[in-house]
Amino acid sequence: MKQGFALVISNAQVMPGVYLIWLESPQIVAEAKPGQFVMVRCGEETLLRRPLSIHQLANESRKAKLAFLFTVAGKGTHWLSQRQAGNNIDLLGPLGSGFSIHPASHNLLLVAGGIGIAPLCFLAQEALNQGCSVRLLLGASTASQLYPKHFLPAEAELIIATEDGTAGRKGMVTDLLPDFVGWADQIFACGPTLMYRAMADQKQQLLKAKSPQISLEVGMGCGLGVCYGCTVKTKRGLKQVCKDGPVFDLQDILWNELNY
Ligand SMILES: Cc1cc2nc3c(=O)[nH]c(=O)nc-3n(C[C@H](O)[C@H](O)[C@H](O)COP(=O)(O)OP(=O)(O)OC[C@H]3O[C@@H](n4cnc5c(N)ncnc54)[C@H](O)[C@@H]3O)c2cc1C
Ligand code: FES
Repeated sequence: MKQGFALVISNAQVMPGVYLIWLESPQIVAEAKPGQFVMVRCGEETLLRRPLSIHQLANESRKAKLAFLFTVAGKGTHWLSQRQAGNNIDLLGPLGSGFSIHPASHNLLLVAGGIGIAPLCFLAQEALNQGCSVRLLLGASTASQLYPKHFLPAEAELIIATEDGTAGRKGMVTDLLPDFVGWADQIFACGPTLMYRAMADQKQQLLKAKSPQISLEVGMGCGLGVCYGCTVKTKRGLKQVCKDGPVFDLQDILWNELNY
């Protein structure tokens, strides 16, 4: 884990209210694993750093870069959306546990709900580098909220669902699951809690048997295992999302006890 300033290389709105920011940070890039996050200091007015998943890595022109993909949700992310090339941003990371790809797995199914694509893009890239096949189920409320295809690894097979049917299959991204679970050696998901609840409620034994790994988003204070602000109840006792997660097995979370 490193703390230091990173130079903004670019920052652009890629969908309404959603920004893609690239920063130069060789120290974080050297250690980062898919599923990990970074605590970002978002200006003077927000006391606490904000957690953001590592979205992508790149090494271009001898610059080790990382990207965050973020929705403007409030003060901190609004501040971040206003940063420009040449600004410096204080980062602390990488933090938390990442997704784990089993050595025997070949077919990986990734399920992204909305901004949940953020950590899965890095995972897809890593899995493809390891020679795996990747199918990505991408869901959004409407076509204009779908993450643009050209930002995703070209080798990943993309299957789309929108709630209003303006692109792909009409419905929730979880409605696509039954068609693909059989193919998958492992399943990874990131999205809103409602999406995880829908997955946990599915009666499909096959889905349960594949113990999907999910990235849990809860409010965080320190991001370092100090404040206990991110504690959740699991079948294995109380866990801190920032230290023991944010990646957990879907089945381990006590969903009825989660207040998100
Ligand atoms: C491990 C982790 C990784 C994350 N990765 C990403 C990412 O890659 N991209 C992204 O857009 N967001 C991500 N988030 C959510 C992001 O941290 C929050 O949106 C951000 O902290 C909001 O800060 P703010 O100051 O803009 O808004 P605030 O003023 O703090 O809050 C505005 C609104 O957002 C809600 N909110 C605050 N924190 C969270 C949270 N953790 N989860 C859900 N809602 C929240 C608040 O309840 C409030 O309604 C992640 C969260 C966690 C815990
Ligand atoms: S955010 Fe402080 S312990 Fe997890």
